[in-house]
Amino acid sequence: MLLSKKDTMQIPYLTRRRFLGATVSAFALTIWPVSGASAALAGRPVMLEARPGKANLLETSDAATAIWGYDGRVPGPVLRARQGDEVWVRFTNRLDQPTTIHWHGIRIDNAMDGVAGLTQEAVQPGESFDYRFTVPDAGTYWYHPHNKTWEQMARGLYGVLIVEEKDAPDVDQDIIVVADDWRLGENGAIHEASFGSIGERAHAGRLGNILTINGDPLGAFKVRAGERVRLRLVNSCNARILKLRFEDLEPQVLALDGQPVTPYALKNEIATLGPAQRMDLLIHMTGHPGASQAITEVSQSRLVAARFNYGSQAPLPVTKDTLKLAANGLAVPDMASAKKVDLVMAGGAMGQVDRISHRGKTYSMRELVREHGLVWAFNGVAGMPEKPLFTAKRGETVAVRMVNETRWPHAMHFHGHHFREAHADAPWRDTLLMEAAEERSVYFVADNPGKWMLHCHMLEHQAGGMATWFEVEA
Ligand code: C2O
Ligand code: CU
Repeated sequence: MLLSKKDTMQIPYLTRRRFLGATVSAFALTIWPVSGASAALAGRPVMLEARPGKANLLETSDAATAIWGYDGRVPGPVLRARQGDEVWVRFTNRLDQPTTIHWHGIRIDNAMDGVAGLTQEAVQPGESFDYRFTVPDAGTYWYHPHNKTWEQMARGLYGVLIVEEKDAPDVDQDIIVVADDWRLGENGAIHEASFGSIGERAHAGRLGNILTINGDPLGAFKVRAGERVRLRLVNSCNARILKLRFEDLEPQVLALDGQPVTPYALKNEIATLGPAQRMDLLIHMTGHPGASQAITEVSQSRLVAARFNYGSQAPLPVTKDTLKLAANGLAVPDMASAKKVDLVMAGGAMGQVDRISHRGKTYSMRELVREHGLVWAFNGVAGMPEKPLFTAKRGETVAVRMVNETRWPHAMHFHGHHFREAHADAPWRDTLLMEAAEERSVYFVADNPGKWMLHCHMLEHQAGGMATWFEVEA
């Protein structure tokens, strides 16, 4: 079902035609020039362009949808580096809008973080910028713009950055699954009238009506019975909390937001991913030769997102063993001496807020919406403040107590650092999904100097005021 103009304010339903079986997603890989491994390419940048392109987002389509993509496609090229290597991308903006690239989840040199207006000037149309940084942590990361992100990502600007372990684990296949929901109009074009909609900002954000896996409406992966597969899930939706269900399989979680965890079985076979979150799974392909197993998306209704299609080869012997990834060795927070910071999240539809300030002026919610299109606040302030939320000494542990006083879930993302909660098994994350009315405290060692954003990764919420920053002294 496609959305018609007049019901853009309603939550649209995701739709998928029934899977017909033939298509295998052609998801091109760019192999990174890894220094050492391919010395001939070392010391030279990889070229990457943001530019308009076309993508077949509808199963019916002869009519391709006009998108914006890295190198004109969606997702952009997969960038691969080895842990500890330098990544060097010469980025050129071929759009008619300024843009940047943010390397989500990488504990990066601040000058390379790609936040327009905070860590760099936006790259103007026709101009280039060299991103050059080392990647300290192995794992599944991704890249996307950090300027008008709500529009640029919705048009297709995102790609995956994989940092390989020094000793990459032994699996039969390494499969990337980037899930995105698109808001298309009846003509199959990206629904532009809803960009910047206050209704979306104040509610759940821009929810799509079409789901793609790796830019393909018919996600299909060829597997062999008995194989061990590493699946790297990425949620590139503007705002949707994805619930991907692995029917008849027993995936184990290996890593979250790039950082390894002690492996555990996925509960109810469902992987929940807030916007921007990643999850690495290990799956033993226990189906029979010739079988087909669905990955369904069940956040709204149940629809088939992709399929594992088993070849006819004889099964490999199933090994039920697991696989533990080596930790990246993040600095352990010193809870006792932590600098304490409160972050109260307020606003949105049905939120109760009297006064909110923005750029030094105080407004009623109604005025703030009318004059600035803002609807959310952190500690009573809407939008990026001039002063940081806090300043930390380098090496200091920071405890951020986040209190969600809104009626909505939020995906809270910290730049430049991974954090974790206090309980013993708490995973390291760069993006934390918080439910309505929840209170959660996270801890991290502020060991990366610079100016770092902290925002909701539901991009309409970010644009609607849920954005701030902190500073780590040099
Ligand atoms: Cu994935 Cu501030 O971004
Ligand atoms: Cu939010």
